[in-house]
Amino acid sequence: MNLLSLPQGSNFAPSVDHLLYYLTAVSVFFILLIFAAIFYFSIRYRRQSEHDLPEPVHAGLAIEIVWSVIPFILTLVMFGWGASIFFAESRPPENAMQVYVVAKQWMWKVQHMEGQREINELHIPVGRPVKLVMTSEDVIHSFFVPAFRTKQDVVPGRYSTTWFTPTKPGKYHLFCAEYCGTKHSGMTGWVYAMEPQDYQAWLSGGRAFGSLAENGEKLFQDLACDNCHKADGSGRCPSLVGLYRRAVLLADGRSVTADEAYLRESILQPNAKIVAGYQPLMPTFQGLVTEEGVLELIEYIKSLSPGTAPAEINTNPGAPTPAPTKP
Ligand code: CUA
Repeated sequence: MNLLSLPQGSNFAPSVDHLLYYLTAVSVFFILLIFAAIFYFSIRYRRQSEHDLPEPVHAGLAIEIVWSVIPFILTLVMFGWGASIFFAESRPPENAMQVYVVAKQWMWKVQHMEGQREINELHIPVGRPVKLVMTSEDVIHSFFVPAFRTKQDVVPGRYSTTWFTPTKPGKYHLFCAEYCGTKHSGMTGWVYAMEPQDYQAWLSGGRAFGSLAENGEKLFQDLACDNCHKADGSGRCPSLVGLYRRAVLLADGRSVTADEAYLRESILQPNAKIVAGYQPLMPTFQGLVTEEGVLELIEYIKSLSPGTAPAEINTNPGAPTPAPTKP
C-alpha cells in the first residue's frame, strides 16, 4: 500500500513508508486523544460559581506508570524500527554494482565502471543492488532520490556511500538536498531505472571513453607514478600490486586497510600515512589530479588486485544471469 503520491522505486521505499505510516498513526492518535481530553475536561470540570475552589487531587501510582510506560514503548519502537532501516541503508551488499558520483556546483557527474559518463543523469538496472561512492569537488551537496527514499550527504575530501536496489523501471527525480549556493535549486537530474536488457543495450551504446581502470592506468603513466611504484617492488616506493583491501603496516606502527579512502588520501596527502620501511618521498598530487582522476587511479590500483572486487567490474553477476553472447 502506498498512501503517498510518490512512486516506490527501490527496495527501501516500502519499509520507509511503513515507518512513516506508523509515526503518523501514533501522532494522529495522540493528537485526537489529547484534544478530546482537553475539551472533555474543560467542560466537565468548568468553574461552577464565583467561589468554586478545586480540591487537590493525588493521582494513583498505577496510572502514572501506565502513561509513562506506553509512550516509552511506542517511542522505542520508533527508535528500533528507524535504526534497523538506517543500518540496512548503511551497509551495501558485497555484490553491489558500483557507480561513482562526483558533485560540484551545480551538477552531478556520474562515472560507470565500464567507462560511461553522465551529467545529471544516472542509468541503472532494476533488480540489482547499486552502490554509489560519492565525493564533492567543492561544498557539501546531498544526493536525494525521493522515489528511492534515499538521501546521502556528499562531502568534499571524503567518500560517502549509499545503496539501493531499484525495483520498478521508470524515470525518477534526482535532487540536491543540501543548500550549496546560488543554483542549488537547479542542481537536479534524473535517475533512469531500466530493465536489465535495456541497461545492457544502454551500456554498449556510446562507449567511447575506455573503462575507469584503463584511464587510470594511462593517468598513472602520465603522472610518472610508475617511476617509483614498480610492480615488482624494486622501486623507491611500495608496489601497488595486490594492495587493495590489504592491511598496510605504517612507519608509526599502526596498521590500516588499503580501502578507497586510504588510496585517495595517499594520492592527495602522501605524507599522512608513511608505509613502514619507506621514505616520505612522494610529492602531493593535490591540485594536479581531479576527483575523477583520483577515482580512475583508484580503479587502476584495484585492478592490480584481481579477485578482490569482481562484482564491481562484472555488470550482471546477479542470480538469473543471461547466457553470455559471443560476438
Ligand atoms: Cu548541490 Cu545543493
